[in-house]
Amino acid sequence: MSRLLDANIDKKEAQYETSLRPQSLKEYVGQEDLKNNFKIFIGAALHRDEPLDHILLYGPPGLGKTTLANVIANEMHANIHLVNGPAIEKTGDLASILSMLEPGDVLFIDEIHRLPRVVEEVLYGAMEDFKLSIMINRDSNAKALNLTLPPFTLIGATTRAGDISSPLRARFGITEKLNFYTEEEIKKIVLRSARVFNVTIEDSAAQEIAKRSRGTPRIANRLLKRVRDFANYEGKDDITLNDALMALKALKVDSIGLDDVDIRYLKTLIERFNGGPVGLEVLANAIGEEIMNLEDVYEPYLLQIGLIDRTPRGRMATTKAYEHLKIAHQGKLF
Ligand SMILES: Nc1ncnc2c1ncn2[C@@H]1O[C@H](COP(=O)(O)OP(=O)(O)OP(=O)(O)O)[C@@H](O)[C@H]1O
Ligand SMILES: [Mg+2]
Repeated sequence: MSRLLDANIDKKEAQYETSLRPQSLKEYVGQEDLKNNFKIFIGAALHRDEPLDHILLYGPPGLGKTTLANVIANEMHANIHLVNGPAIEKTGDLASILSMLEPGDVLFIDEIHRLPRVVEEVLYGAMEDFKLSIMINRDSNAKALNLTLPPFTLIGATTRAGDISSPLRARFGITEKLNFYTEEEIKKIVLRSARVFNVTIEDSAAQEIAKRSRGTPRIANRLLKRVRDFANYEGKDDITLNDALMALKALKVDSIGLDDVDIRYLKTLIERFNGGPVGLEVLANAIGEEIMNLEDVYEPYLLQIGLIDRTPRGRMATTKAYEHLKIAHQGKLF
């Protein structure tokens, strides 16, 4: 069984994610400040009949960066082209992508922090003055290729804003961070997804799923799908609180949405390293998980809900972590 927190999505999941994606800003739940900003940027750009400035979206996986990029393109009545940063290996790959752009198009580059350096450098000119200039090497005859591009909007997405070089970052006119959603917002998303799936769900069941979704729409939708399976298995198309509770128990998602990796992370930090501080690399080795996975997928939420602290000397467990795991701390018993 794939992990609920898996940052990678397979083909089948990509398909249902697409079907669940809101199409307009109005349907896009939460992120109110960011939506208000985009309403103004989009309204102004449409008024001037110009494409939007280049946009950098960052935040943990599953919060809605790809969804938002599609929404922005829809609101701009623009075509969107989706590419993955690491798939653009050579400057020639970038050139062929850029040369198919029409005026006003949106180019979405996911995982933009993983663009190769040489490609990134060619991108600078394309972003800045819509000029493309690359060297092509054919039969050891180097030739410069210069192209003027139509005005377009680049939307870059990343889970690691810190890994973006400053020259690239400086070329985005708009930079927006996506935040974890509130329980109420996630509940709205669950209710909306249930309608798309054509199932009914008790309000309390939607609330329970929301409580355990780590403020992340992708996780909420994954949980809803598993809970629906439980109900369907019993021959029902309506989901009750009881179905939700049984499914969540079977999935080993705890009362605040932590899974077995979170628990191992916290227990190791507390029991083996005395609550820290301990370096991430040492901790990752101790629990047998990849550093990147812990840093991008697990830690943002543990930090958000105050179970860990990041200090210059390493990770530390907070009193709240001891309380949640019911482990005695500094003479206190839970
Ligand atoms: N604001 C929202 N309202 C409703 N549904 C949302 C919202 N944001 C995301 N979703 C749902 O959550 C799922 C994941 O969103 P999305 O793929 O956009 O995340 P992401 O930030 O691009 O993740 P990654 O970093 O892994 O690429 C989508 O299926 C989408 O339907
Ligand atoms: Mg995405």
